[in-house]
Amino acid sequence: MSDMKTDLAIKIENLSVRYTINIDNKITMKNALMRASRGERVKTKVVEAVNNLSLEVKHGTVLGIVGANGAGKSTLMRTIAGILPPTQGRVSVNGKVSTLLALGVGFNQSLSGRDNIILGGLAAGMTLSQISEKTDEIAKFADLPDGFLDVPVRTYSAGMYSRVAFSVAVNISPDILLLDEALSTGDATFKEKSFNRLRELCEQARTILIVSHALSSLNELCDSVLWLHQGRIREIGKPEQVTDNYLKFLNVGKTSTALEDL
Ligand SMILES: Nc1ncnc2c1ncn2[C@@H]1O[C@H](COP(=O)(O)OP(=O)(O)O)[C@@H](O)[C@H]1O
Ligand SMILES: [Mg+2]
Repeated sequence: MSDMKTDLAIKIENLSVRYTINIDNKITMKNALMRASRGERVKTKVVEAVNNLSLEVKHGTVLGIVGANGAGKSTLMRTIAGILPPTQGRVSVNGKVSTLLALGVGFNQSLSGRDNIILGGLAAGMTLSQISEKTDEIAKFADLPDGFLDVPVRTYSAGMYSRVAFSVAVNISPDILLLDEALSTGDATFKEKSFNRLRELCEQARTILIVSHALSSLNELCDSVLWLHQGRIREIGKPEQVTDNYLKFLNVGKTSTALEDL
C-alpha cells in the first residue's frame, strides 16, 4: 500500500460491485445451447450492489454500518475482506484482517475446531506458537464442551458453531476485524460476554467494522456510523445522528425492536 497514508487501515476508491443474475427460471445447459444456436441470449439482470463508493477508515476507528436488507453491506464487507473482487475501483487494506462475515464462513466443515482455529490464526498472520497459546482461551471463551475441540465442526450444534466462530474472530488479535451481523450470536449469557469482549477490543485502538441492526449497541461502541443505501453512502458521521436519521427513514420510532440491545 505504498500510496496509502500510513494512518489509514482501509482505503476504498470509487468501488463498484455488480452481480449478474440469470432471470430465466429454467436455465439448463441444453436450454442455453439451444438458445445460443438460435442466437438468443440468456436473460440476465445486473445488480449494482455497491455503487461508486469511496471511503477512508483510519487505524483505530470503530465504524458501524447500517442499512436496509439488500443495501450492499455484506457485499462491501466481503470486498474489504478480499473474498469478492471489485467490478470497478480499488480497495486497499493495511493490516491483517480477521472476519466473521456470516456465522462460521471460512470454517472448513470436515476439520476439527482446533484445526479451524489454526487456519483462522494463520490467515490473520499469527505464528503457530502464538496460535497454540490462544487455542485453549478460544475454546474456553466459546464454552465448548470437553472433547469437542478435536472433532469436525460439522458435528457441532448451531450454538457451539457460532460461539466458536465468534470466539476465533475476536480472540486472534486482528489489526482489522470485520463483523457482519455477528453480534446477536448465542444465548443471553454469551451475548453479554461477546459484547463485553467487543467493547474491550473497541477500547484497544483496533480497527473494527460492525454491520448490525442493534442500533443502540452501535451508538455505544462506534466512533462513527455509515448508513448504506442502495450501494451508496447515504450518511456517515456521529453514531447517534446517523442511527437517528436511519430510524426516521425506517419510520419505526425509537420504541421499535431496532433499538433492542444485543
Ligand atoms: N451472490 C449474489 N449474487 C447475486 N446477487 C447478489 C449476491 N449477493 C448479493 N446480491 C444482491 O446484491 C444486493 C446487495 O446485497 P447484500 O450485499 O447482501 O446486502 P445487505 O448485506 O445489505 O443485505 C442485493 O440486491 C442482493 O440481492
Ligand atoms: Mg448482509
